[in-house]
Amino acid sequence: MSQPIITEKELLAALHARYAAKQFAPDRPIPDATWAALEETLVQTQSAFGLQPWKFLVIDSPELRHRLRPFSWDQSAVTDASKFVVFLARKHTNAADVGHYLDRIAQVRKVTPESLDGFRERILETLGASAASQKIGDWAARQLYIGLGQFTTAAALLGVDTCPIEGIEPEKYDAILELEGTPFTTVFTVAAGYGLPTDKYASLPKVRFPLSEVLEHR
Ligand SMILES: Cc1cc2nc3c(=O)[nH]c(=O)nc-3n(C[C@H](O)[C@H](O)[C@H](O)COP(=O)(O)O)c2cc1C
Repeated sequence: MSQPIITEKELLAALHARYAAKQFAPDRPIPDATWAALEETLVQTQSAFGLQPWKFLVIDSPELRHRLRPFSWDQSAVTDASKFVVFLARKHTNAADVGHYLDRIAQVRKVTPESLDGFRERILETLGASAASQKIGDWAARQLYIGLGQFTTAAALLGVDTCPIEGIEPEKYDAILELEGTPFTTVFTVAAGYGLPTDKYASLPKVRFPLSEVLEHR
């Protein structure tokens, strides 16, 4: 990466314009090309070791969205936003999952799987330590939040409104989405679309601590 793609002013304008939308226009779809780019932001999310311990469920079915809404503090974004994404974390990452990832590296970078043996051991050693303390699910969930940041920032750059929604009952989501018995579990969701002008949050000033309070140079 050498040349800037946007100016500092454009970047900050998008970040200042982004707000957590509470009301979405039910009849305003995100254009296909815009949505395809936003799906790609999820694929491109970075993760520790590059393991990508996640899956993203885009809930297209209105019926499923209606069933999920009562377990989402009845937030209207669940049914009204153009798109609704459920972010799933991997509960366990075992040697076979690591092998699957290393096969992908070998394929993409055209190297032999054997050349990755040292890397494999380092990952398994780290995951082993996490497994001993039952932390793999938490660790994967933390990685997932990187995707939330990337997705919502990218959406703002494309003029798409979003709302991260953690106010859900993940166990109910897992049941409705039939995730029990799979390696994945629900962590949070994000609604995306176009906010309604009647949403007071669209025009309320954003509340942030001043830079001098949250950032220090040493
Ligand atoms: C992890 C996370 C979970 C959130 N969950 C909800 C939610 O369930 N419902 C909601 O209306 N907003 C939710 N929000 C939005 C926050 O309330 C909002 O980002 C925060 O108040 C700052 O406002 P702003 O994003 O408009 O600047 C969530 C935000 C994050 C980052």
